[in-house]
Amino acid sequence: MIREQMEQSLAVPAQAPTRERYVLHRAAASPSNSFADDVRRGLTARPKFLLPHYFYDALGSALFSAICELPEYYVTRAEDEILLSRAAEIAAAFGPRVRLVELGSGSARKTRHLIDAILARQASLDFLPVDVDAGILASSGHDLLNDYPRLSISAICGDFRNPATLLRPYLPPSDARTIVLFLGSSIGNLDPAAAGAMLSNLRTALAPGDALFLGADLRKSPSILEPAYDDALGVTAAFNLNLLGRINRELGGTFDLSAFAHRAYYNESEGRIEMHLVSREGQRVLIDGYEISFDEGESIHTENSYKYDDASLHALAEAGGFTIEQRWSDSNGYFADLLMVAE
Ligand code: SAH
Ligand code: AVI
Repeated sequence: MIREQMEQSLAVPAQAPTRERYVLHRAAASPSNSFADDVRRGLTARPKFLLPHYFYDALGSALFSAICELPEYYVTRAEDEILLSRAAEIAAAFGPRVRLVELGSGSARKTRHLIDAILARQASLDFLPVDVDAGILASSGHDLLNDYPRLSISAICGDFRNPATLLRPYLPPSDARTIVLFLGSSIGNLDPAAAGAMLSNLRTALAPGDALFLGADLRKSPSILEPAYDDALGVTAAFNLNLLGRINRELGGTFDLSAFAHRAYYNESEGRIEMHLVSREGQRVLIDGYEISFDEGESIHTENSYKYDDASLHALAEAGGFTIEQRWSDSNGYFADLLMVAE
């Protein structure tokens, strides 16, 4: 379906090469199958929680793109600075012949700096973006194919938390070195144990010498961190509340969005930003035939965003079976990208 849409909407004239340059694979166990189950499990737990990958429906991905433009959200700008200014050096560290996987690729806008630098060193490039949002895979794939005639895309729609299962069928033995990008500090949305387990799982789909290129947001003052997750324009609040909107749209929920408040704060002892939706009053909500009640002030924990330092990054690499080979940072020292080589 998506492949057909892609072919129809592409502006480039040559049909046959275009068809071969884009394939979309849907993982068998797509997380969308379990949205209803995960919502019920999270909202009947104490304290209540929802899983953050459900932020990204079409509206959620559009709101995330808006977050990336906010003056308070330094994360995207910091990583963009690294990738733009050090692209040639990073591509040289990747080596002479690579294929590129990207977990949580989204718009893949920053990835373009690396694609430019890699295509300056090799004739063609296989790109395997992985995302839970099929819509953003289609739109970013469309844009990339138009701009990069020497790029081929195998898009994979699925949940990156078990990357080996997802990737193994699409990574046949190859002379090219596999480089897995995990940008934007998406690793920070997993707790440290899950992050270590994810890397260790990823490692099993890689050969020794393949590498993970990991973006991590670094620990810094709450005066910088907190506004990045609670901006003056209210875009992050809308991003957070959209989770309740999505439950209404897809599961027949009766959430009144104005009866919940966005809350984001830095939990210093855990080293993480926490996002919550706090009930402004005592209330009951119906979802697909069952009822959830909220006390006034009760929260739904919707996201953690862990911030790293060198010690926690080394512990993460070790847990995953990777060795940190190189590290790049932005001029403010806010963000780091690391080349972690599979042992
Ligand atoms: N890499 C981009 C986008 C980050 S936003 C950047 O650095 O700006 C996070 C992206 O990961 C979104 O596109 C979202 O749909 C995707 N995502 C989040 N959780 C996911 C999961 N568990 N599995 C697959 N994709 C996920
Ligand atoms: C995708 N992820 C790395 C973002 C972050 O910064 O944790 C998601 C986000 N949540 C609120 N703003 C941005």
